[in-house]
Amino acid sequence: MKEELQAIQEEGLEALRQVKDLKELESLRIDFFGRKGKLTDVMKGMGNLSQDQRPIIGKLANEIRTALTDAFDSTKNALESKQQEQQLMEEAIDVTLPGRKPAYGKAHPVMQTLDRIEDIFNQMGFQAVTGPEIETEHYNFDALNTPSDHPARDLHDTFYLTDGHLLRTHTSPVQIRAMEKQKPPIRIIVPGKAYRVDYDVSHTPMFHQVEGLLVDRHVTFSELKGVLVSFAKQMFGDQTKMRFRPHFFPFTEPSAEADISCTVCQGKGCRSCGHTGWIEILGAGVVDPEVFRAVNYDPEEVTGFAFGMGVERIANLQFRIPDIRTFYENDLRFLGQF
Ligand code: PHE
Repeated sequence: MKEELQAIQEEGLEALRQVKDLKELESLRIDFFGRKGKLTDVMKGMGNLSQDQRPIIGKLANEIRTALTDAFDSTKNALESKQQEQQLMEEAIDVTLPGRKPAYGKAHPVMQTLDRIEDIFNQMGFQAVTGPEIETEHYNFDALNTPSDHPARDLHDTFYLTDGHLLRTHTSPVQIRAMEKQKPPIRIIVPGKAYRVDYDVSHTPMFHQVEGLLVDRHVTFSELKGVLVSFAKQMFGDQTKMRFRPHFFPFTEPSAEADISCTVCQGKGCRSCGHTGWIEILGAGVVDPEVFRAVNYDPEEVTGFAFGMGVERIANLQFRIPDIRTFYENDLRFLGQF
């Protein structure tokens, strides 16, 4: 029995030296230590040994068992690390390859411009308020001194809805809503969307405006000029000049349109400004007493000024694109450039 055990040990150690992978090792384990394994078999035969042989053989059997188990474990470790090494070689990761960058979003160019406009007026003490895009004729026209027989209504190319509702053609109705809500003094801007039936290289049916309204005692046109010139210089640079041309709006009197010196040619005259040196950016004026009456303000007590500018027009002065409709085609290759 002693020889038998020693033979098993020899055989086991030799087999372990030959084993090539973990799968072979596992079948070897079953061969030797399994329920019907070689070593198990011999151990079972121990019961037939004599009293004095049993402890000697038992000790030997245990030693051999331990030796084989140890050899088994170290072979297993070796095979495992060899396998891992091989795997690392095969699945090599090139850490110098550039990673995949997540696509990140940013503000739409028109919103970037709108944010900048808001910042400038905020610093001058104007607070941003908003109002509904679906309006009534009352707020969009009548209260702004533009009754239905007023010729200025025809100029607005209005999208009419049912029941006397319409898509607001400008942000000016929010002037009325703000004055109905609060007593003077008022100093607000109104960023928002407006709608007109219009579609060409410089017009989209939906566009953005920023309205401004300041109401207090003794407000003058020169203060309007001061605020707008300051805005223009902050928005387009210190060298920017601004001029006011007489104009007409039903809700302001006197009214003006304001131009800035062309940002392309600095006023010398070029294709961008139609060789005039000037580019129109907004409408403005002193609030008409009729507008104050519509909101129960006393025109003898308060005066004010208002202005309204087109955001796309201003965005285009910054970004210079040939057709503002591309702002709204949602082509990320285009929008991502700004
Ligand atoms: N609402 C005018 C427009 O859309 C602009 C404007 C606003 C003019 C406020 C004067 C005062 O053209």
